[in-house]
Amino acid sequence: MKYIFITGVNRGIGFFLTKELLKRGHSVIGTYRKTSNNSNLQKLKSVFPLKLNLTCLDVKTIKQDEFTEYLNSFKVIDILINNAGILDCGDVPFEKLQIDDLLHSIEVNTLGPMKITQLLLPNLAKSASPRVFHITSQMGSIADNQTGGYYFYRVSKAALNMFNKSFSRDYPNILSIVIHPGWVKTDMGGDHALISPEIAATNLCELILNMNNTISGNFYNYKGDILPW
Ligand SMILES: NC(=O)c1ccc[n+]([C@@H]2O[C@H](COP(=O)([O-])OP(=O)(O)OC[C@H]3O[C@@H](n4cnc5c(N)ncnc54)[C@H](OP(=O)(O)O)[C@@H]3O)[C@@H](O)[C@H]2O)c1
Repeated sequence: MKYIFITGVNRGIGFFLTKELLKRGHSVIGTYRKTSNNSNLQKLKSVFPLKLNLTCLDVKTIKQDEFTEYLNSFKVIDILINNAGILDCGDVPFEKLQIDDLLHSIEVNTLGPMKITQLLLPNLAKSASPRVFHITSQMGSIADNQTGGYYFYRVSKAALNMFNKSFSRDYPNILSIVIHPGWVKTDMGGDHALISPEIAATNLCELILNMNNTISGNFYNYKGDILPW
């Protein structure tokens, strides 16, 4: 049984990943925003009252002292999954973009995972096999960018990928990976996406729980294939 910390668990990939990990007997500490619709999450909590711990957290406005106190009550955390993310101004043409608005995407998609990772270091250090997974996107790949656009999302995810690489070099004892979950039917992915969130959650669980031959710092898709930077 692993202790697993996940951000953004009230809907989308985070919700189904939490459900799948709980079904497999793991203990999940999940975060959601105060303003979120979390009725499904509360139902899940009633099914797994002891294995699911929930706390309110906006990754943009973390109160460091309060959060550290909360984390101290858990001691060890084996796996961190930075899942919470936004796709902002995706279809706005470049000439119409309010460039300063990029900061919002950077704060949620890049600085959020960096802050959470930093705050969880003491808990991860107590694990025999600590692992950090950032849910990134293939759209953060520079080599794979065939279509342009999506400036805020692409820039913030590419920066997340770079953070992961440096972190993996600085903390060789912590397996640290960026994962593209596939195109998933969620509020972000939309109805035309190819993968249901349930299947995405199963795929991610397999990868996250069994990543024995993977190389820290790398960029993988949900099948475990290495993606180009
Ligand atoms: N869906 C896809 O096809 C796809 C593809 C590639 C990568 N991804 C990545 O997968 C991850 C999950 O995406 P999804 O499709 O499940 O998206 P989603 O359905 O839009 O859910 C996003 C989650 O992130 C949370 N969140 C947003 N801003 C936050 C903040 N400031 N602080 C804390 N939580 C915040 C949301 O909470 P609220 O409900 O409070 O807003 C929600 O729980 C994201 O990192 C995304 O970039 C998704």
